[in-house]
Amino acid sequence: MDWKKNIKGVIFDLDGVIVDTAKFHYKAWKALADKLGIDFSEEQNENLKGMSRMDSLNYILSLGELQNMLEDDKRKLAASKNLYYLELIEELDESDILPGTMNWIQECKQNGIKISLGSASKNARRILDGLNLTDHFDAIIDGTNTTETKPHPQVFLLAAKALNVEPSECVVIEDAYKGLEAARKGGFYSIGIGDPEILKIADINLTSLADESMDVLEQL
Ligand code: G6P
Ligand code: MG
Repeated sequence: MDWKKNIKGVIFDLDGVIVDTAKFHYKAWKALADKLGIDFSEEQNENLKGMSRMDSLNYILSLGELQNMLEDDKRKLAASKNLYYLELIEELDESDILPGTMNWIQECKQNGIKISLGSASKNARRILDGLNLTDHFDAIIDGTNTTETKPHPQVFLLAAKALNVEPSECVVIEDAYKGLEAARKGGFYSIGIGDPEILKIADINLTSLADESMDVLEQL
C-alpha cells in the first residue's frame, strides 16, 4: 500500500517495544514468587507480556494454587511487587530507549502521522518521563485509562479515538501475542516485534524497529 497516503496514526506499545522492562517485571515478580514459595520461570514470565498487573499476579498465584487468596491480600502483594518494580526502573533514561524507536517517531512526524502510546501499564507515564519521550506523543493511553485488558482492543480503540483516526488507518506496534490479537480484533494493522513464529498473527514481523524504516509499511 501507499502508506504515506493511507496511514494516519501509529500506536506504540511500551514494554518490549520502546523499552525492555520485561527483565525488571520478571525480577520483581520472581522476588514475590520466591517469598510465596512458588516456582516461577523466565519462560512462564513470557505469558505475562501485555497482561495487566492483577492478571499477572493471579497467574503466578495459580502456579502455587494460591489463587483463592482474599482480594485484599492480593492487592497488597501487587502493591509490594510494584514498589520493587518502581525501584528497578528508577534508573531508566534516554539510553534505554530501544534501537530504532526514535527513527520511527521522527519518520511519523516527517510524514504527518500522529502517534499514541497504547500500553497496559499503569506506570507508563512515569517510564515515558524517565526516557524523556512524553512530549513526542500526541496521546498517551495506558492502564489508568482502561477497564478491559488485551486481547480486548479497548486500549487501541481509545488511542485511535484520541488521535482522531480510524483503526483502519492505524498501525499498532506490539511485542505481545495478546496485544497483536487486540490489534486484529480492533481492525488495526499490526507489526509484531520479536519471534515471528510466536507473533505470526501480525501483518508484518520484525525482530526490532531498528531492522527497517517505515517504508516496510509498503508490505501492508
Ligand atoms: C505491560 C507489560 C506487562 C505488565 C503490564 C502492567 O503490558 O507487558 O508485563 O504486567 O504492562 O504493568 P504495570 O506497570 O501496570 O504493572
Ligand atoms: Mg509489550
